[in-house]
Amino acid sequence: MDPRCEALLEELYTQTQQPGLDGQMHPVDLQTRISRAQGEFLHRFTLERGAERTLEIGMAYGFSTLYLLAAHAERGKGRHTAVDPFAVSHWNGIGLAKVRASGLEGSFRFFETTSLLALPPLAQAGERFDLVYIDGDHRFDAVIVDFHLSDPLCEVGGHIVLDDMWMPSIQWATRFLVRNFAYDVVPQPIANLLVLRKREDDRRPWDHFVPFPEEEEEAPRQRAKPWRKRVKRAVRRWRGGR
Ligand SMILES: C[S@@+](CC[C@H](N)C(=O)[O-])C[C@H]1O[C@@H](n2cnc3c(N)ncnc32)[C@H](O)[C@@H]1O
Repeated sequence: MDPRCEALLEELYTQTQQPGLDGQMHPVDLQTRISRAQGEFLHRFTLERGAERTLEIGMAYGFSTLYLLAAHAERGKGRHTAVDPFAVSHWNGIGLAKVRASGLEGSFRFFETTSLLALPPLAQAGERFDLVYIDGDHRFDAVIVDFHLSDPLCEVGGHIVLDDMWMPSIQWATRFLVRNFAYDVVPQPIANLLVLRKREDDRRPWDHFVPFPEEEEEAPRQRAKPWRKRVKRAVRRWRGGR
């Protein structure tokens, strides 16, 4: 990985205080971050898929930002766009200070506002992205809205990655998304992520709706492996018959 980003990530993961945009030290909480495994996956996936235009909703301290920026730095091209209304007011600009320290500001763009306000102008300007990473407002309705706004921005063949699949709000939202949008689930090893590949631009009729089940034993991530469901069903039947 790009050594500058790697060093800055190491600081973020190991220090309890970090410099903000104001140059002062500020506390770093232990919850607001992605795991190293998730970050390394995002970084590797961005490189492997040749995703040059990346967009993230929810930057906070900049963990995911640095992983994505590192991929662009290693490839020597690409640009990363981050959207977060609270990156400065709540997170003290620690993530933005890290980007500055990385020397990669030239391939970085930041919108200090909500996805709701930032994404439509990008669509209006005809922008497209190869990878959109959604890790912002985690409420059910907000996730659906973020996906809905990200879809026109995502290139056909590009990917939308949703974080925090452990949360019921995300699980419920993704149950709807995978059944109703023209995306395929990409099998991958990180249980907390859902990776979707876009098949085509939205061509659904105005009244399109595929119902989604109230309960799903497995997260949509697993739906790429239908044999799991069959095995579980067989075990249930076998237990019921005992
Ligand atoms: C879980 S944190 C993101 C963590 C980050 N991706 C990382 O790797 O450490 C969620 C972030 O979403 C931001 N956020 C909340 N609502 C948002 C919205 N409507 N649009 C964009 N970002 C939002 C919060 O300010 C917060 O920084």
